Formats: sequence, structure tokens, C-alpha cells
Amino acid sequence: MTEAEFNANWDAFENACKACNRCGLRNNATNTVIYRGGKHAPLMIVGEAPGRSEDLEGLPFVGQSGQLLQSLLSTYGFGEEDYHICNICKCRPPENRRPEPSEIMACKRLLSVQFKLVRPKVVLLCGSTAYEGFFGEKPRMSDVRGKFLERNGYYIMTTYHPAYALRDSKQKLPIYEDLGKVRSKLEDLGLVPKLPPVNL
Ligand code: URA
Repeated sequence: MTEAEFNANWDAFENACKACNRCGLRNNATNTVIYRGGKHAPLMIVGEAPGRSEDLEGLPFVGQSGQLLQSLLSTYGFGEEDYHICNICKCRPPENRRPEPSEIMACKRLLSVQFKLVRPKVVLLCGSTAYEGFFGEKPRMSDVRGKFLERNGYYIMTTYHPAYALRDSKQKLPIYEDLGKVRSKLEDLGLVPKLPPVNL
């Protein structure tokens, strides 16, 4: 696909997102929240659904959990073109409730178009809803967290949702470790430069 074709497809995708009201969540949302970061990023980070700040700004992960995620990304030297951040659902559920399975299903068609356009090599699923949206089944987080699954040439890691670490600061460490594994995988695949060693 040429860059011009890609851009035309991307515009069509964004228009389809903005026009979508398959599940009804758009009725109470301010914005359709599609992504932030690079459109050709090697890493896709998938959360649950926009919260209040995201709905108001039209960008994913810009509230408190986004600030934590962003500080972890900076710690590992990720630049904006390295990641593509999005959510399982593109519209905010009322009162930040978890999206219903029917809402996840309704949004999946758009997520799969997004995935095919971005073509990430590594995917980081944040929390059980992201896992459920991606794989279609509820995970036991203790079983799936921190391990890469390889599917059709993609490397998929599940970690805790950053909001969980805001409620329980002990959970920051596992998320930090998981993001370190993600960085190493991308380095091994030659998709981001190797970070210089830290001299203590
Ligand atoms: N939580 C999410 O899952 N996604 C966001 O964009 C913000 C908070």
C-alpha cells in the first residue's frame, strides 16, 4: 500500500469511527476516541474505554492512568512514533462502567480495521477487558499477565491496567516489568533501537 493509499484508508477508517453508533454509547459521549501516537507504530497498546478526560479531549489515556502509562513509556525511552494507543471501545461508557460484551463486540470491527492498518508487531493489552476484547474470552489475569503469546507472527502481552496501579501502588512494578519485556522484544525484532545499559 502506498502512503497515499494508506492515508485515504486511514481517513475512511476515522470517518467510519466518527459515524459509528452501533452500540449506542456515542449518544452520551462527547468524542469518539480513536488513537494517539504513530499510525505505523510497531507497538499497539490497548486499554478498555475512554474515561472522562479522554472523552473530553478525544484522545486515549490522557487522564490519571494515562499519565502513569506515559511516564512508564518515557522511562523506557519510547517516542511517540513507537506506540499506537487505543481502546477496545471508542466511546465512553456512562459513569466509566466496564463496557458490556455487546459493546465490545460492536466496536471490534473497527478495532480490527485499525489493527490491519497500523500492523503492529507487538501488542500490549492493558487489563482484562482488553484481553477479552482481543481474544473473546475472559482471562484469569494471574495466568496471562507478563507472558508473550505468539499469534500469526504477532507478539501479544497482557499486563494490569494502569488504573489498577493507581488504586494499589504495588501493581506498578509488574506493569513496569512487563513494559520492559515489551521494549526488549521490540529491540530484539530490530523495531526500536537498543537502549544504552544503565550504569548503577
Ligand atoms: N482507561 C482506559 O482503558 N482507556 C483510556 O483511554 C483511559 C483510561
